[in-house]
Amino acid sequence: MAKKLWGGRFKKEMHPALKHFSYSLATDKELFEAELLVNRAWAKMLAKSGIIARAETAAILRGLAAVEKKMGGQDLGAYVCQYEDVHTLIQSELEKNAGAVAKKLHTGRSRNDLVVASTRIYLRERTAEIWYAVKKLQKALVVAAEKANGLIFPGLTHLRKAQPVLLAHHLLAHVEMLEEDNARLADSMKRINLLPLGAAALAGSALPLDQKFLAKELGFSGIAPNSMAAVSDRGFLAEFLSVLSILWVHLSRLSEDFILWNSEAFGYVELDDAFATGSSLMPQKKNPDVFELVRGRAGVIFGALQALLAVQKGLPLSYNRDLQEDKPGVFDAVKKTLSALELLAFTVSSSSWNKKALLRSLDDDSIFATDILEYLVRRKVPFAEAHQVVGRTVRHAIESEKQLRQWSVQEWQKFSPEFGADIHDLFDPKESVKGKKTIGSTHPACVKQAVAKWKKILR
Ligand code: ARG
Repeated sequence: MAKKLWGGRFKKEMHPALKHFSYSLATDKELFEAELLVNRAWAKMLAKSGIIARAETAAILRGLAAVEKKMGGQDLGAYVCQYEDVHTLIQSELEKNAGAVAKKLHTGRSRNDLVVASTRIYLRERTAEIWYAVKKLQKALVVAAEKANGLIFPGLTHLRKAQPVLLAHHLLAHVEMLEEDNARLADSMKRINLLPLGAAALAGSALPLDQKFLAKELGFSGIAPNSMAAVSDRGFLAEFLSVLSILWVHLSRLSEDFILWNSEAFGYVELDDAFATGSSLMPQKKNPDVFELVRGRAGVIFGALQALLAVQKGLPLSYNRDLQEDKPGVFDAVKKTLSALELLAFTVSSSSWNKKALLRSLDDDSIFATDILEYLVRRKVPFAEAHQVVGRTVRHAIESEKQLRQWSVQEWQKFSPEFGADIHDLFDPKESVKGKKTIGSTHPACVKQAVAKWKKILR
């Protein structure tokens, strides 16, 4: 029978059904490495504060090294029914290795503080990994934007053709959105990276625990200012899933763009065979499952955020066992996020653009309606009046089935005397994008500058 970290007060063994119901090792085994770090720092601190002898700390550290050697880097699934949680696993294995001195390690602390310390260490490391993975996806998008050099297609609003834009401009829009996500991730570090140790279950400790030493040793940037908040608040996890949720909104929108562009209706993009999937029935199919899985998994991430908020809602201070339910959704979200970012980067950077389809997409002169409107505005026609005029020309083009570029100047002048022969210069997508003047526009010079900026930032 495996040992518990408590039990003196109990006359009976725990019912097997309750073990099954409450044990958390299957989930918190993720915290194994972080927990070892915490234990090492704690053992050193106990000696430094004069609570245990230096030789005892040395023995504990040797024991922890042995535990790591035996169990590190492997799946701890085999121990799941044996130990209540990762804290108990490490403590028990340490006792096997280091003997009686191991019983001094848990001095002055509770699993309530331990679990949140390890979770914070885990999270700051994963947050950094996600931050780098976002950068890699940004890089892949910039590579794709470079490959799209000079390619133009109709930008959409309401999924209807709106105005010519550079494909690179569209791709860089996603890069910018991801940059905000990374700024949010970086900012959240301030709230993640606080030392909760010393809370000693909830009230703080009467022992001389050196929290400053612990913070330094474990790389925390500060000490939690309130022991009760330290053990009971999971705001930092809710923030993490909120930030991830916004990131996943962006990933799902990027995915949706590629799904549309990959459809036969658009046909703008060709996926690399290594990053597409087939059908078990229809031999001709080549499907964009990477993007569809990302679009679908975004929903699972939002669900994890809702679950975490609901777990915390209305909980009395301080620690309650409800809080054990904080981890499964977070761990799952981390894995899903890292794999999605990796796959998106691979898929985006390996896909190629179909120039013919992009060219075909421009074969509709109504995408120049805004340019024609601004042509009239430059000739001092009031905007609202010009809007009416151009609207009528577009309607006439549809009804007469004659594209705008085919009209003679006389035909144009039936709609407004301001139209001159130079109206024909407008029906060129390259001229259309070159006409844009505002900061952040799709003007080729702006886009070129943006590509250069990103290449420098993402180097
Ligand atoms: N497994 C718990 C959690 O994840 C930590 C242990 C605290 N347990 C306790 N009975 N105080 O939150």
